[in-house]
Amino acid sequence: MQLPNLTEARKRTTKEVEHIYLNENYNADTFKGQKYFLRTYGCQMNVHDGEEIAARLESLGFTPTDKLEEANIVILNTCAIRENAHDKLYGFLGRCKHAKKSNKDLIIGICGCMAQEENVVKELMTKHPYVDIVFGTHNIHELQDLILNRNNKQNINVYSCEGEVYENIAYKRDSKIKAWVNIQYGCDKFCTYCIVPYTRGKQRSRKSSEIIKEVEELVKEGYQEVTLLGQNVNAYGKDLKDELNFAGLLKVVSKTNIPRIRFVTSHPWDFTDEMIDVIASYDNIMPYIHLPLQSGSSRILKLMGRRYTKEEYLELFNKIKKAMPNSSVTTDIIVGFPNETEEDFNETLDVVNKCQYDSAFTFIFSPREGTPAAKMKDEVPMATKEERLHKLNELVNSYSLAANKKYVGKTIPVLIEGISEKDSNKVFGYTDTMKLVNISNAQDYIGQIVDVTITDAKSFSLDGEIK
Ligand code: SAH
Ligand code: SF4
Ligand code: F3S
Repeated sequence: MQLPNLTEARKRTTKEVEHIYLNENYNADTFKGQKYFLRTYGCQMNVHDGEEIAARLESLGFTPTDKLEEANIVILNTCAIRENAHDKLYGFLGRCKHAKKSNKDLIIGICGCMAQEENVVKELMTKHPYVDIVFGTHNIHELQDLILNRNNKQNINVYSCEGEVYENIAYKRDSKIKAWVNIQYGCDKFCTYCIVPYTRGKQRSRKSSEIIKEVEELVKEGYQEVTLLGQNVNAYGKDLKDELNFAGLLKVVSKTNIPRIRFVTSHPWDFTDEMIDVIASYDNIMPYIHLPLQSGSSRILKLMGRRYTKEEYLELFNKIKKAMPNSSVTTDIIVGFPNETEEDFNETLDVVNKCQYDSAFTFIFSPREGTPAAKMKDEVPMATKEERLHKLNELVNSYSLAANKKYVGKTIPVLIEGISEKDSNKVFGYTDTMKLVNISNAQDYIGQIVDVTITDAKSFSLDGEIK
């Protein structure tokens, strides 16, 4: 096989590049009998990238293993959203370095959002020369060539090809029941605390025709659910000419008759009345909205660059609940943004009390190098931030439990996904509102949407049975 020169490849048109990087152009005998170990951290987007990476590794003949010691190639798909990402990366690299002592041919690869950070790449180059390949979030399609062309030097391919949207990507999907579908890449919002626009580049939407083609394929394969993925799904299409908006996209995806459609993440600023109307009117669009608040203080929201006030957020929330009283709304909240006062924090608690979220992911602000918020002076001690997080979590959990208790005694449709990890006599699945349900003796129903009667509620899950 004639391998493309990487620099030359980058100058080619998207169409030609697509052809070159398709998995069928590689030889599955190349690494026959060899194993890959892939670990992914981070959000759904990274998890879905992991499904592409797995398919690419398998196109060269590698098969999966969950034991690092058995692997011939190790790929770490990193996340950069918070500081602790660095500890995870370097802790893992320590294990890889050790494994390479007993297997000098072990190929070590680092990718994901940290591989798009300049300081990380420099550190890998200078302090970790045993790492063989480094590739960024824009270069996953070049993975096979990076492996095939590797030499004694580190083979690094990061930052490049931003702006390209590759189609015809093959995935090794983790599930045969529900699938991730990218609708856009990157993010243009530049919230002042967030590293994502730097690691994933500017917003690039996929063409709706390509998205529909992918969903139709999934319907044919028997998938029951798709989750439309993007950092800011409701800004879908704004970067393309003559393209549908997100509400329009939801409508056409709905027509594919996939039983369940979900989407993450929605930004409050881009949420329109038209969207609310579409979600409320189409049966296969799930009444579940992840609507990150970040802070309840309009002062902090302004410093965060979120583009909405506390009042505007509450107005949107109320509109959603009015149109869909049985919908569930979840959120993300950051405590301890630089110089967050007790008053600011109380505003956040006030919004939580008003919205009574079904659940919330809560974080302590983590300064990310290169973002504006990392340069802001901050006088709030860490102990105060931890206290606030604790207080917030207690409040959030009490509302999660209250929201779950409302389900007890009701019979509702659940998509059953598989055997419960904790109890092999049980299966687990999700309601349309994204509540996890553990169900006794229902193995025969895996892959189906069935009516389940809810018997008990906990903060993070429900128990149910099929009557
Ligand atoms: N696109 C999504 C968020 C993606 S990141 C949105 O706009 O809502 C997921 C969550 O991580 C964010 O919602 C935020 O709550 C949190 N997060 C992002 N950067 C952070 C930082 N520097 N420190 C702490 N939490 C952060
Ligand atoms: Fe980050 Fe803001 Fe973009 Fe979400 S919208 S990914 S928080 S910059
Ligand atoms: Fe992490 Fe990158 Fe996602 S930083 S949260 S993996 S976009």
